[in-house]
Amino acid sequence: MKAAVIGSPIHHSKSPMIHSHWLDQHNIAGSYEAIEIKSDALEAGVQDLIARGYDGFNVTIPHKENIMELCHEVDGAALKIGAVNTVVIKDGKLLGKNTDSFGFIQNIKSKNMFNFKGSKALVLGAGGASRAILCGLIDEGVSEIYLTNRTKSKAVELQKINPEKIKIIDWENKEDFLNDIDLLVNTTSLGMIGCQELEINLENLNINATVTDIVYAPLMTPLLTQAQKRGNDIVTGIGMLLHQARPAFEVWTGILPDVTPALEKMVLQ
Ligand code: ATR
Repeated sequence: MKAAVIGSPIHHSKSPMIHSHWLDQHNIAGSYEAIEIKSDALEAGVQDLIARGYDGFNVTIPHKENIMELCHEVDGAALKIGAVNTVVIKDGKLLGKNTDSFGFIQNIKSKNMFNFKGSKALVLGAGGASRAILCGLIDEGVSEIYLTNRTKSKAVELQKINPEKIKIIDWENKEDFLNDIDLLVNTTSLGMIGCQELEINLENLNINATVTDIVYAPLMTPLLTQAQKRGNDIVTGIGMLLHQARPAFEVWTGILPDVTPALEKMVLQ
């Protein structure tokens, strides 16, 4: 297998560590490295990967949307999300996929007995990650999603994914809905090392609700700490990163690898 992750900046990417671990574990000859490709060099960079015999690559900031134009085919999940994070190269042609929804949902399923069907969720944030998460929740049969974002217009845009199920609420009023939900998801960057904290009082949160955060540095964000302290189930964010990598490895090698505590520990170090 010959694969890579492309983006800019790319030096911080954990993907080479994850895929190299799986290559070793399954005794597969191959390589997976991080390749810096700037915004204006995407097409040339991708042509170079094709010429050098790559089986595919992962795509991260700033190329997740622009890569779609270069793909010969884009799968249903990527079309819905409007972004590609995984590309398979076959006979010189590019097939674009998106595994972010899978990563988010599988992370919760692997850690928790949460039953998505008929549940109600509150999603904080309306960026790229939020779009993939909303698609995943809807595919899993969630009955209602309250969506809120500091910049309301971006939430209104994402509501188009499913106007019947997604209800926009004001950022200032998000705490009023906590007693009515089964799942609380932070998709904003708030709580990440170097960012502001997410200010939210969980006093009224349904005690049976699961709380999850896509931020994984720190692993225990202030949101998760607060939720755990009052007895709510929590799911940390590192698993989304690990699980989204699994289908990519599978399309390049035919093996769907596992996320193990050892891998999680290695990536967090
Ligand atoms: P990603 O692709 O990871 O979702 P993004 O598209 O930059 O990243 O989205 C970041 C999210 O964090 C957005 O919902 C953003 O809110 P805005 O749309 O209002 O910018 C949210 N966010 C970042 N900083 C924030 C802050 N200080 N307060 C509230 N929300 C914030």
